[in-house]
Amino acid sequence: MIQATLHQLKVFETVARNGSFTRAAEELLITQPTVSSQVKQLTKAVGLPLLEQIGKSLYLTDAGEDLLETCQDIFEKLSNFEMKVADLKGTKQGQLKLAVITTAKYFVPRLLGSFCQLYPGIDVALKVTNHQEIQQRMSENRDDLYIVSNPHKDMDLKSKSFLDNPLVVVAKKDHPLAQQQNLELKHLNDRPFIMREYGSGTREAILELFDKHKISVKVKLELGSNEAIKQAIAGGLGISILSEHCLISEGISGELTILDFQHFPIKRRWYVSYLAGKKLSVIAETFLDYLLTESPKIPFPESSILAKLTNGKTNLSGLTAERSLIT
Ligand code: PGA
Repeated sequence: MIQATLHQLKVFETVARNGSFTRAAEELLITQPTVSSQVKQLTKAVGLPLLEQIGKSLYLTDAGEDLLETCQDIFEKLSNFEMKVADLKGTKQGQLKLAVITTAKYFVPRLLGSFCQLYPGIDVALKVTNHQEIQQRMSENRDDLYIVSNPHKDMDLKSKSFLDNPLVVVAKKDHPLAQQQNLELKHLNDRPFIMREYGSGTREAILELFDKHKISVKVKLELGSNEAIKQAIAGGLGISILSEHCLISEGISGELTILDFQHFPIKRRWYVSYLAGKKLSVIAETFLDYLLTESPKIPFPESSILAKLTNGKTNLSGLTAERSLIT
């Protein structure tokens, strides 16, 4: 049996995950010489090199790769065990690791607020990012649960759909198309457009629709943030397509409007997903139940605000119908 301490394994796992001694020291709040000496002792105990330094980059050897996987397995099991013990003692204690797509930030933090009030012993690590990075995190088994709108088909996932996440065409209030109804998609042709970045699920859904209907917009700007896109629309740089949830804070005095296009809203849903082979921790199970129970209460823009955002247009029936499903 290899004589290694849990601390050495933790230090090694942090170095291997970060690909850097310096970043590992920063994360663990210890000095870099301590990190180096812990890894050195572990390497001696294993009897094989675990890391290889080539130039400025740090690489894992085959033994290092195997050990990293083993460490992550051990730490996940230990943390699940701790949570189980706390549960048996009648308290919920431990960490919930969540990674969510950009639009989920409009409701997840609020939901976490009430969840953490109910279970004060639970700490949360929340990552907000786009679909591509979520897929990367899934492949590295970094989190307990994921909230996405396109559960990746090439990954073995368990997914539950829980709420509508429609995409709408958003423009500045004084846009020439703002008063028109039932617009044909061809009106989008050659329009200045603000597009989400490569790797975004919103972008994928937009391109799929454009491709299907042979629409070609003039991409003025690519941005990695829905909030920045809203500012760019307000600044007159063009129109865009965003999740309706991004407009929840717009209010009646907002500067944006929803354009009434055929084929919109693009109907999508949010899903909560986790790796099929993963045994969820007690904490993750608790949050999953909480999310599925509480999500129907998540507000969409109120009807008065929506009427204003749509300039009172009535044939955005998709939006109204979807909303009534959840209120
Ligand atoms: P995205 O996902 O941030 O990858 O575009 C958002 C969404 O699908 O609602």
